[in-house]
Amino acid sequence: MASSNSSDSSTPAELAAPYGSGPAAASAAASSGTSASGTGGTADGGTGGTAEAARKPAARIRTHHLQAAKVNGERFAMLTAYDQYTAEIFDQAGIEVLLVGDSASNNVFGNETSLPVTVDELLPLCRAVARSARRALVIADLPFGSYEVSTQQAVATGVRFLKEGLAHAVKIEGGKFYAETVRAMVQAGIPVMAHIGFTPQSEHSLGGYRVQGRGDDAQRLIDDAVALADAGAFSVLMEMVPAATAAAVDAAVDVPTVGIGAGSATTGQVLVWQDMAGLRGGKMAKFVKQYADLRTSLSDAAKAYGDDVRSGQFPGPEHSF
Ligand code: KIV
Repeated sequence: MASSNSSDSSTPAELAAPYGSGPAAASAAASSGTSASGTGGTADGGTGGTAEAARKPAARIRTHHLQAAKVNGERFAMLTAYDQYTAEIFDQAGIEVLLVGDSASNNVFGNETSLPVTVDELLPLCRAVARSARRALVIADLPFGSYEVSTQQAVATGVRFLKEGLAHAVKIEGGKFYAETVRAMVQAGIPVMAHIGFTPQSEHSLGGYRVQGRGDDAQRLIDDAVALADAGAFSVLMEMVPAATAAAVDAAVDVPTVGIGAGSATTGQVLVWQDMAGLRGGKMAKFVKQYADLRTSLSDAAKAYGDDVRSGQFPGPEHSF
């Protein structure tokens, strides 16, 4: 995907923030690179990172950059993140979009499904991610029960995620039934990504983890995506949808689509980071590609540390005062 610093004819270059952009941006611009990465508080606004990154404020990825990616036939990458260090690492690795997913329910809070996680549990994770990502667009999932009751409830929850969670956009699950909800949120100034296909918050009504949009059911997903995009969703995410259906959905809407288990025709791809980096154990879904084996690395490190402590090898003189 084109750098967020570049512009095309439809995307004029971004101006400097008219009212200042807060102490983090100011110190990043002024800093001579005195950040103390790894110790928490840093000169570049608490995000650690290299001296180079501290000197050069990164231009934020905006929803219009994702739109430009679709228009220009480029791709963007999205990963979940739920804390400071993963957000910082993925941001610096060039991941364009970070999702504070309600999958934190399963991957942070130890629940079996995404249903139990609450707004109050997700907000602090979202704040940590948003404070730590200098370039990525940060999207927050609205958890189950926080937007379904009424458009007013959805707007109020979306406002909380932008105001208290510092998110740049939100994601909600559901098909065309939620078009009015999306419209109300967008009118309130909340950018919305719509999530269709397999929607984990509805796993009990969908009868478990099932691919959606096979055969004749493809038209339902196309109708969903068109209605949600018409209502103002800036992007449509599809989960566990046959590649051909996802391609048809992508062709039916002007907004960028994002896939997870939806083939390769979408503008963006997303994975849960613990799956992508091999931290989670157990059987992976077919759509997961693992790029590392963090579970083994971390386990080996913990075992070596435990052995050193028990044998008296740690701490050594070099770790003592
Ligand atoms: O919460 C999440 O991680 C998600 C992804 C599966 C897209 O919604």
